[in-house]
Amino acid sequence: MRKNIVAGNWKMNTTVAEGVELAHQVNAAVEAATDLKCEVIVGVPFTHLTAVKQVLTAVNLAAENCADHVSGAYTGEVSAPMVASTGAQYVILGHSERREYYNETNAMLKTKVDLALEAGLKVIFCCGESLAQRKDGSYFDVIKSELTESLFHLTAEQMANIVIAYEPIWAIGTGETATSDQAEEIHAFIRGLIAEQYGAQIAEDTTILYGGSCKPSNAPELFAKPDIDGGLIGGASLKADSFMGIVTAF
Ligand code: 13P
Repeated sequence: MRKNIVAGNWKMNTTVAEGVELAHQVNAAVEAATDLKCEVIVGVPFTHLTAVKQVLTAVNLAAENCADHVSGAYTGEVSAPMVASTGAQYVILGHSERREYYNETNAMLKTKVDLALEAGLKVIFCCGESLAQRKDGSYFDVIKSELTESLFHLTAEQMANIVIAYEPIWAIGTGETATSDQAEEIHAFIRGLIAEQYGAQIAEDTTILYGGSCKPSNAPELFAKPDIDGGLIGGASLKADSFMGIVTAF
């Protein structure tokens, strides 16, 4: 049985003090909640990992990126072993903002995925198409390439440590959510690709999250779809109330 996950992606927001306070609020709410039907993760800036880890007892921790090298002369970079040494369990890789603004390619992400898994981290791997690709109909091919070129070299055992997040770029931070039918179509497609590559059981066991203007008002309809196993949440994860409104949406 695959697990449901709701993960926050704080992006480049909050000071360390603000982040610790937010993490504390989320953790307290998750601890107090009874009968939660999902794992909860907060994805935070590198600077916050160690301090945020100290206040988490019921929530798991993710970094938002890691380097494509293990160690050495790469000024300003943070490696997967460094992330793991903070106690974080996850790293978000392949977010469209990293692909677009920092030129991350499928090949580079393949390396990052390998290094993250070697360091003992689980990976939340993002994929998704632009508005132009949605309009010209190439989105199935785009998503297939992203998964094939960065993930499908992994062994079946390694795939157990991969969570996939489908994030249509046109829905990120725009207030425009994919309809639950649009999202379900892609999630089922992704699960089908995993089944072709790894077999039906691994496809069934893989958690696939939706991201893009997910909020308490639309989460229940999205999460009710058979292939949508939770969300990767940007803006709405920056307030404990709205994040918890999504966490409790199952
Ligand atoms: P928003 O929820 O702000 O649209 O961001 C989604 C996202 O990019 C999560 O990684």
